[in-house]
Amino acid sequence: MNIKSTLLASVLALAPLAAPAADLTIGFSQIGSESGWRAAETTVTKLEAEKRGINLKFADAQQKQENQIKALRSFIAQGVDAILIAPVVATGWDEVLEEAKEAKIPVVLLDRTVDAPDDLYLTAVTSDLVHEGTVAGQWLVDEVAGADCRVVELQGTTGSSPAIDRKNGFEKALAGNANLEIVRSQTGDFTRSQGKVVMEAFLKAEGGENICALYAHNDDMAVGAIQAIKEAGLKPGVDIKIVAIDAVPDAHLAIANGEMNATIELTPNMAGPALDALEAFLADGTMPPKWIQTESKLFTAADDNQSIYEMKKGLGY
Ligand code: AHR
Repeated sequence: MNIKSTLLASVLALAPLAAPAADLTIGFSQIGSESGWRAAETTVTKLEAEKRGINLKFADAQQKQENQIKALRSFIAQGVDAILIAPVVATGWDEVLEEAKEAKIPVVLLDRTVDAPDDLYLTAVTSDLVHEGTVAGQWLVDEVAGADCRVVELQGTTGSSPAIDRKNGFEKALAGNANLEIVRSQTGDFTRSQGKVVMEAFLKAEGGENICALYAHNDDMAVGAIQAIKEAGLKPGVDIKIVAIDAVPDAHLAIANGEMNATIELTPNMAGPALDALEAFLADGTMPPKWIQTESKLFTAADDNQSIYEMKKGLGY
């Protein structure tokens, strides 16, 4: 275990211990490592499993749904006790989830939802993804206070539930505010590199002085866009206001440096509540609620972002 992992492990050790999970084998199909948040979720999940003595079989899908389906079929063939999956996109899961159900293997969704009947999974541990978009939009509505504002939007992975829901939530908050107009909206696939490339295209197409705000569906894309804005000779956070989602350390640092304005926190600890629910279910059939909702907290320049940055860095992000 490295120092980061040790620090994160000691924080997790403060969490209440669930029932012992002797001999449990759980398969985890992770999307990949597109963002800092995703990497943190992977670290936390491995540490949570280790803390509980669970044998975790980890499969990295490298952003491909077909790899996730293969991983699930392999977990089913191996007869694992349960499956965790962070589904890359929302649709196309019914068949493989039916197979898990037939094999009596409970499946828990992590951080993203699916368009499938809810009897095909045990529970979903996610934030309210629509609400996150609404909080971002409402922050911008309040920030511009009636002034005209042309907004560009960096969407997450096309077809993923956070991209769909965060877009809808944001639009909901802007509805009725004729001063705010989304003039460009395109996917940056939740990555820093695509965030930069797409922001460069937005700046070129619109002219930087005609863009008042950026809404990015995650912090990594915002951080990539900050680079593009600087290279265009503009001041991110000042000339172009920036609001995003995740609250990863680099976003707190960007806010502390005045280069970003707001972020909404998504906890990387989805595994804690998921494994609590699974252990209880496997021990005595306790049914969890269909949705275990994690918190969404807004951070702005009013917070001590430098300290939060240092604290989160220390936690192993
Ligand atoms: O599903 C959660 C989203 O996926 C996070 O906001 C993003 O950073 C990640 O890649």
